[in-house]
Amino acid sequence: MSDRAAIERAVAELAAGRLVAVPTETVYGLAADATDGEAVAGIFEAKGRPRFNPLIVHVADRAMAERIARFGPLSAGLADCFWPGPLTLVLPLEPGSGIHPLVTVGLDTVALRMPQGLARDVIAALGRPIAAPSANTSGRISPTSAQAVQDDLGSKLAYILDGGPTNVGVESTILKVEGDTVRLLRPGGLTSEEIEAAIGRPIVTGSAGPAIEAPGMLVSHYAPDASVRLNAQRIEPGEALLAFGPNRGIGADQAVAIRNLSEKGDLREAAANLYADLQALDRYGARMIAVEPIPHHGLGTAINDRLSRAAAPRAQ
Ligand code: TXA
Ligand code: MG
Repeated sequence: MSDRAAIERAVAELAAGRLVAVPTETVYGLAADATDGEAVAGIFEAKGRPRFNPLIVHVADRAMAERIARFGPLSAGLADCFWPGPLTLVLPLEPGSGIHPLVTVGLDTVALRMPQGLARDVIAALGRPIAAPSANTSGRISPTSAQAVQDDLGSKLAYILDGGPTNVGVESTILKVEGDTVRLLRPGGLTSEEIEAAIGRPIVTGSAGPAIEAPGMLVSHYAPDASVRLNAQRIEPGEALLAFGPNRGIGADQAVAIRNLSEKGDLREAAANLYADLQALDRYGARMIAVEPIPHHGLGTAINDRLSRAAAPRAQ
């Protein structure tokens, strides 16, 4: 099918209130018309997602964004610099936006982003915003290919729009803009260094209060079936290895399976490979995945965030 025919099919399903997986530059999203409450309820059901966890609204252009949220000078500047792209802004919700309250779980803020890729063409053709969390069962690894969506949620979706592998590979960076303050709620595909260079001031990390600010940032998340052991210096018997850089001296030949995020030690390449490599090691059936240390700057911040959640104790 041509891209055009595939986009038309996706739009027809969304307009009929059904669920469609769409490729963005970060990960595949599980999309529904954000103004249709029944369709949005279907997202929570298909993912097994807790109802207190709000969804990101995706728009095609600034006019659509400004009907949904109130922008100030700082948030408008961020959108000018980085949209379309892997940046989500949490902003005051505009009354009468038409966004169904299930999307925002009744908050007076909304998480908004303008994605790159076929997802944006779909939204433009639909003429309405879509709500789209990552297209995985809640708590599991986000999909970076149509096949990964098919394997996890295939039977629950009306259609999967195949746009090939995503090129960023980790979810968008989420910022909350309040007056003069820009707070990082989730590290992601746009680095703090890039943001700070653009706005000329430091971004604030850490919570402003006791509540969880991005309610989806539960500790155990992005989890493969295998357990995950971080900052491994040696391979223990029976372990698979998620390597980074030229893996000398770690005993890589002892590992039952190996994937290397980036042999040349490139963090962008590592982010793009992260979820597919975790899935591949899982398919191999390893009980434990040992992960080599990943530098904690640039995209390494988002990679380490996801890996530490994958390694966190799981509620069962
Ligand atoms: O790259 C991405 O952001 C992908 C693609 C599909 O766009 N989407 C994604 O969505 O990662 P999801 O649902 O997996 O993560 C959305 C995060 C959650 O942690 C949620 O709690 C937070 O955004 N969020 C949504 N609305 C919020 C709000 N009003 N205030 C604070 N956090 C919010
Ligand atoms: Mg997710």
